[in-house]
Amino acid sequence: MKEIYHGYYATRIYLPLSRLSRSWRRFFRHLRGKPGPFLQNIRLPGISWKECTRQRAIKIWEKKEENGNVRISELAILSALAADCINGSNLFEIGTFNGRTTINLALNSPAQCRIFTLDLPPDLETPSSTAKSERPICKKALPGSRYEKYRMICPAAVKKIQQLFGNSAAFDYSPYKGSCSLVFVDGSHAYDYVVSDSRAAMDLVCKDGIIIWHDYGIWEEVTRALEALEMQKGWGLRNISGTSLVYWRKV
Ligand SMILES: C[S@@+](CC[C@H](N)C(=O)[O-])C[C@H]1O[C@@H](n2cnc3c(N)ncnc32)[C@H](O)[C@@H]1O
Repeated sequence: MKEIYHGYYATRIYLPLSRLSRSWRRFFRHLRGKPGPFLQNIRLPGISWKECTRQRAIKIWEKKEENGNVRISELAILSALAADCINGSNLFEIGTFNGRTTINLALNSPAQCRIFTLDLPPDLETPSSTAKSERPICKKALPGSRYEKYRMICPAAVKKIQQLFGNSAAFDYSPYKGSCSLVFVDGSHAYDYVVSDSRAAMDLVCKDGIIIWHDYGIWEEVTRALEALEMQKGWGLRNISGTSLVYWRKV
């Protein structure tokens, strides 16, 4: 029951307020002529979350956000998109971190779906191209601690998850090619990684499948990379209003 309440709060209260707050902050920074870090002006057209999913009663587990996690409104949208996935299809997350989104994808998606989530191996040196500000996020103990908690309470959901280790730019995605109804790109925030992770996501997604990127308008290199890809490829990327999520559906 509380999961539904959290979903309602995330989409009906938190999301409209954060949309307003971001527009104001962008407007005042624009007036002062100071773009500032962690909030850029954005050029991708917007789309409402209600146009992206059929779900309205959305459930969220692990409400508490830690530095490195998505916002609660973004978690609700990802959960709704997971619930829309075709039963038996795969979901792929690039960037597990503590697994808060991963467990929500597992609990919300149909029973026969599998969740693949990729992160750097814990014993690997953080790649030198990783931005200084995201190094603390890469230096976590073991990816997925928040989904591991559910192994006893909800074994069926955790069994759907497969943790993968590797550098996203060098990873062999071929076994998952064309099989994913949802791909979530949330790994490195460095420009070249965003470009190569986006190309990988395009290979992973199946017909009618969705790709979501995180941190658009927040991390300067993510913003620049996605706008450059849109300029070059004309994919039709959309920013989900009031969030830093970018949405694309393969038709
Ligand atoms: C922002 S966090 C992901 C947050 C998570 N998706 C969530 O919703 O809570 C980014 C993660 O990407 C991982 N990462 C960074 N560079 C990577 C790379 N080159 N390959 C794979 N994972 C990477 C980091 O270790 C970190 O755990």
